[in-house]
Order: sequence, then C-alpha cells, then structure tokens
Amino acid sequence: MKKIIITGGAGFIGSHVVRRFVKSYPEYSIINLDKLTYAGNLANLKDIENAPNYKFVKGDIVDLKFIQQLFADEQPDAVIHLAAESHVDRSITNPVEFVMTNVVGTVNLLNAARESWKGEYDKKRFYHVSTDEVYGTLGDDGMFTEETAYDPHSPYSASKASSDHFVRAYYDTYGMDTVISNCSNNYGSFHFPEKLIPLAIHNIQQSKPVPVYGKGENIRDWLWVEDHARAIDLIFHKAATGTTYNIGGHNEWKNIDLIKTLCTIMDKKLGREAGESAKLITFVTDRAGHDLRYAIDATKLKNELGWVPSITFEEGLEKTVDWYLANEEWLSDVTSGHYQQYYTDQYNNR
Ligand code: NAD
Ligand code: DAU
Repeated sequence: MKKIIITGGAGFIGSHVVRRFVKSYPEYSIINLDKLTYAGNLANLKDIENAPNYKFVKGDIVDLKFIQQLFADEQPDAVIHLAAESHVDRSITNPVEFVMTNVVGTVNLLNAARESWKGEYDKKRFYHVSTDEVYGTLGDDGMFTEETAYDPHSPYSASKASSDHFVRAYYDTYGMDTVISNCSNNYGSFHFPEKLIPLAIHNIQQSKPVPVYGKGENIRDWLWVEDHARAIDLIFHKAATGTTYNIGGHNEWKNIDLIKTLCTIMDKKLGREAGESAKLITFVTDRAGHDLRYAIDATKLKNELGWVPSITFEEGLEKTVDWYLANEEWLSDVTSGHYQQYYTDQYNNR
C-alpha cells in the first residue's frame, strides 16, 4: 500500500486534496499532517474523518525531531506538501513566522525525506505545492510561464520562492524525486474568511463593509479549488521527475469587478433589491507592495497532462456562494474561533 503524507491537510486547499486522495485511492494510506494553526480546521474533513485509509497527525513541520520521528514511524512513500502560512497581509505584519513555516518547515521535510529515502529516491516522490506569486507582478499584458524568472515581492511570496528553490536544490544536489506546481488564486468551499472572496461573502451576508484595497484595480486569476486538487492529483501521478507545472484558470478579474459580481449574486440569493449589497463596498488603504496583476499560462499542463478547468467562474462563484449560505455554522464557528477550541480539546484529550 502506498503511504502518502499530505501536509496542511486541514487547511483550505489541503482539505480538498486530502478528500480527493482518500476517496479516489482506497488503496493508499493518507496521513494528514497539520499543526492546526488558526487556518487549520478539522471540520473541513468531517465527511472522511473515519475513512479506513485516513489518519490525522497533529504536528509542526518546524519541529525537525518530530518530523524525523514521523518519517521513521510511518515510512511514507511520498509527501504532498501544502502546509504553509498563506495570507499575504499576515506576512506583512509577521514575516518571521512565514520564514519559519514556509522555508524552515519545508527544508525540515525535505531533509527528513532525504535521510529516510536514501538509496530509493526513484521509488519516492516529494511534491511541493506553490504559488504564482513567486513570479512577482505583471503589467497590462503577458502571462507567467514556467520559464518566468522569480521576482517575489511580499514576505509571503519571498518565503514561497525560497522554499521552491530548496526543493529544486534537493533535486539537483541529491537526486531526490521532486515536483513543483505554481497555482493562481483559488476559491471555493472551506476557504478561510480572511481571503477576499469568503470575506466578501461573509460581510455582504452580515451587511458589513466589504473592504476593497486601493482602487480595486488589481487583477487576480481565479481557479476553483477542486480543479486545483484535480491538477495536483494528475501532476503527482504523471509528472516527470524534477519538473514544474503552472496551474491557472485563464480567468482574470479586477478585484472591483469581482466584488460587484458577487454583490449581484448575493442580492439575488438573499432576496435583496438590486444594488443593495454593492452599497457595502468600501475602498480602504492599499496593501503595501500590492502586486498589480497575476495571470497564469497553463499550456504545459494542458498539452502534457490534458488538464483544463472543469467549470466556468460564474458556475464556481455561484456554487461557492451557495456553499457558504448553506454552511453558516462552519462560517460562524470560524469567525468566532469556536472551531479551534473544540478540535484542540478533542485531540489533546486523546
Ligand atoms: P491555508 O492557510 O488555508 O492552510 C494552511 C494549512 O497549513 C493549515 O491547515 C495550517 O494549520 C497548516 N500549517 C500551517 N503552519 C504549519 C506548520 N508549521 N506545521 C504544520 N502545519 C501547518 O492555506 P491554503 O490556502 O490552503 O494553501 C495551501 C498551500 O497552497 C500553501 O502552500 C499555499 O502557499 C499554496 N497556494 C495557495 C493558493 C490559494 O489561493 N490559497 C494558491 C496557490 C498556492
Ligand atoms: O496567487 C496565489 C495566492 O493567492 C496564494 O499563493 C495565496 O496563498 C492566497 O492567499 C492568494 O493571495 P492574494 O493576496 O492574491 O489573495 P487575497 O484573497 O488576500 O487577495 C486577493 C486580492 O484582493 C488582492 O489583490 C488583495 C485584494 N483584497 C484582499 C482582501 C483580503 C482586497 O481588496 N480586500 C481584502 O479585504
């Protein structure tokens, strides 16, 4: 049986990846390794928590001894690494935490894998999940390809760029089987409401101001999270060793246009008069060093592995709004902090 450690599996994207692997591959044993920071929530995985091929391990990737022991105990065949501090705004106020988890944590995992997998690198795989933000920012035209030079600007993207370089260094230096993917902005269910789309949905529903940074002219390329999980599945199984793939939805939106579209959807869903939710839009001070535009060229993934997004943004956004409206308890537990106390107590008492 193939044993895979998926790090950060209690987070937004990680929970979709864990669910996909647990359900699609009953022959694999899936270990979800997560520290349960503010962003980790085991309620994201309620539907699979008792699956026979699933196990949760609470732990910190910054703790090298713990990671080495986990490799010794579990003897994993592969790692799919998603654990990270992921929010750009938090990286501006606390960059050190990003260096610890995103850089030191990644190197700890690589090194534990290097020690544990010595002599059998051809049978093992280290898959690092990264971001398009490592490429920096675009002007009005052009797209990021796998050949675009790294040019990170925020402490978050600098830490992710650094971790990507370490993964490549382990491939070049030790011959470890590594793969990296760099994806654009995800959206969908279980997205923590500090990020633009879930924050806006929550605030619109609560009739609270919807903060739009600067003039709202920054552009992001949005991808439905389940399409990202499907791409990760494909790349994990099919990519050649040492390769990199960009993942993106070919779906660029100015923030202000996206928020206005969301307001229109929410007016309809909540039975409000047209234009009512848009009155909540509030322009606020811009993010420091705010990247203007991201756009991913995912041609390599399409041509080599046949991946294309499965749904349109309009469909995905509507599904996402419906999910948040149907899961008010999840949202209120997250916004109140209740989820952390409940699951922390549950695991500490085991
Ligand atoms: P998230 O913040 O929702 O989840 C991160 C998870 O990692 C949480 O469950 C958290 O508890 C865990 N974690 C954090 N520090 C840890 C540590 N020291 N040890 C163990 N676990 C720890 O993040 P996300 O949005 O799901 O992103 C997942 C990955 O995908 C990240 O590596 C991120 O850089 C990358 N990514 C995200 C996006 C996006 O749009 N969200 C796009 C491209 C790439
Ligand atoms: O591009 C991939 C990246 O996308 C991932 O690597 C990151 O982990 C993920 O958080 C995301 O980063 P962004 O900074 O693009 O996402 P965020 O949702 O924070 O912001 C999206 C855009 O909306 C960005 O231009 C900033 C703006 N914004 C954000 C918030 C939270 C606002 O205008 N108002 C807000 O309140």
